[in-house]
Parts: sequence; structure tokens; C-alpha cells
Amino acid sequence: MKIGGNNYRTIWLDGGGEAVAVIDQTKLPHSFEVIRLSTMQEAARAILTMQVRGAPLIGVTAAYGLALAMRVDPSDASLAEAISHLARQRPTAVNLRWALEEMRRHLQPLAVNHRAQAAFSRAARLADDDVETCRRIGAHGLEIVRAIAAKKKPGEPVNILTHCNAGWLACVDWGTATSPMYQAHDAGVTLHVWVDETRPRNQGAALTAFELGAHGIPHTLITDNAGGHLMQHGKVDLVIVGTDRVTATGDVANKIGTYLKALAAKDTGVPFYVALPHSTIDWTLDDGFAIPIEERSGDEVLQLTGRSATGEVHVFDIAPDGCRAANPAFDVTPARLVSGLITERGVCPATREGLRQLYPEGQCAA
Ligand code: MRU
Repeated sequence: MKIGGNNYRTIWLDGGGEAVAVIDQTKLPHSFEVIRLSTMQEAARAILTMQVRGAPLIGVTAAYGLALAMRVDPSDASLAEAISHLARQRPTAVNLRWALEEMRRHLQPLAVNHRAQAAFSRAARLADDDVETCRRIGAHGLEIVRAIAAKKKPGEPVNILTHCNAGWLACVDWGTATSPMYQAHDAGVTLHVWVDETRPRNQGAALTAFELGAHGIPHTLITDNAGGHLMQHGKVDLVIVGTDRVTATGDVANKIGTYLKALAAKDTGVPFYVALPHSTIDWTLDDGFAIPIEERSGDEVLQLTGRSATGEVHVFDIAPDGCRAANPAFDVTPARLVSGLITERGVCPATREGLRQLYPEGQCAA
């Protein structure tokens, strides 16, 4: 994707392969800063503090983090310790575990002196595969958008609502939920996107609005509670969200608040689609309520970060001193509320049979 006329991915090798470069997402949208990760510990910290975030991107960052660890110590003990340390940083997005297991499967059989180089090439391959996967998700999602556009009057936009950031910033490029939007816009379909602000971390306001704006897609930021009202008034044609984990039966974990959007969509007859790569499917789980839900610090609820009129970024308290806050970061949308899953292999019902038809082999290797 382009920022200021330059093509970017969210992660790349810097300084002739010395370090891993990522965009610091905690600084967006007010400043665009690239940081260098030189050690496995720095990669783990970037995942934990959400300098990188989004299910596919944390998987690829962890893969590079493991490569950084292999450069220091490629022994079996170091491999196991680095995988377990990186996997612990965030519990809900299964892509993190998937990417690390891919790396383990590839590196374990190798002689230790070959592991570092092999780890860097494998991480690069995971990144490249994610780009192609997301491009394909977009091509399949585009057909859904086109079908809705075909029923509109000329010039009337297709109104899509999205939650959180399942954009290119959450992946390596394209995004999952946003890929159909980019491809529809580029194909000349008139679009408008309702962007949920996504409290408490405001990924919609800070990241989705930023990237849609950079691509020239018309969009409007709304509070998280506005979606149901807009759906009741016929202002939403389609919801597309991303996901951090989909069970083998089609239940969907995604950013907190997704479930309420799905309920409102069901009640108002608005199609509710979830876009995902194969690395987000957890074939070991049948029940969405078995997905571990990350509990983050209450400070994220008690505070807001924003830019003042004079241009400085500040953190503000928004509740009385001593107020308690709970911060479950994800929720589970039962499969029955999902109109379809948009994957790199096509669109399927959110059911065991639907997923099995697209992925007869089950767990996909990179
Ligand atoms: O806590 P985050 O910002 O990592 O959560 C991200 C989301 O919930 C995304 O919607 C999800 O990872 C899908 S990303 C393509």
C-alpha cells in the first residue's frame, strides 16, 4: 500500500538483513514512524504493546522474532524457549501460534548451523504468502460487493461497515476485511465505508480511517454504538470484519464489539461477512467459547490518547480517580450470525461443512 507516494508493507528486513523494520502502530495516525527490531525480545515486546497488531501481522512478526533468536542461539533449547516466549505475548489470535508452529516444523529437522538463515527465509515466505492470500481474499470479496453494487442506482455507493482494523496494517499488505474494499474501489465500484472507532484502542479511528484515507476510499468514522441505528435506517448494505480465530465450526472471535454488530445485522437483515486467511482457522476447536479471550489493562478503558490543538499527543483520563475498568479485548460471534466466510479459496457458509469443502486437508501448511 502507498503512504505519501511510497510503497510499504507492514514488515520488512532492514539494513541488509540486520534488523526487522515495522511501522509503529501506536504512533498512528498522528505520526508515521518505523522502528527496528533487533532481538527476539524486542519483537515480543512489539507484539505485546501493540506496536504491531492484527492477527496475520503478529504471526509474521513472531516468525521474524524467532529468526532473530536463531541468529543468537540456534540450539533446540533456544528454539523451544523463543517459540514459547513469543506465543505467550497475545492469546487470542491463533495466527501467532500457527506461524510459530510453521517455523518449528521447518527448523527443527535442520542442523543448528543452518537454522538462522533458514528461519529468515521462512519468515519472508510467510510474509509473501500473506500478501498473496489477502489479495485473493479481496478478489472473492469483490464479487460480493459487485453483486450489491449491481442493485444500486448509478452513482449510489455501496455502504460497508467495518469494525476494528482488519486492514493492511493488520496484515502484511491488502488486509483481510479491507482487501475487497481496495479492490472494489480500484475496479471503479462506488463505495463508502462506515468505520467503527473501536474503543478502547481506537483501531478504527487511528488505523482504518488512516489507511482508507491514504487509498482515497470515502469513509465516515462512527462511534461503536452507532452501527445498529445506521442498519435500522438502511444505511448499511454490508458488514465485513476480520477475525483473530475461527473455529472448525465457523464461530468467530474478533475485536470486542463485533458480536453486537452481528446481532444488529441479523435483526436488520444486513449481510455480515467475516474475511480470513487459512492461518486464522483453529481446526482443534469446535466451540467458540473455548477461544481464550485476552484481558488487557483497564487503563486502556480509563484513558484516551489524542492530539491537542497545539499538535502534541497526550494521554487523558476520562473517569473518576480510582474507577475500576474491565477490558476484554475480543468477543465471539456465533456462526449462526455470520452470513459467510470470505477466504483466499472462496466464500463459504460459516459451518463445519462449508470450511471442510474449501479446506479438505484441514490445517494448511505455508
Ligand atoms: O487487538 P488487535 O488490534 O490486534 O485486534 C485486531 C483485530 O481484532 C482484527 O480485526 C483481527 O486481528 C483481524 S486482522 C486482519
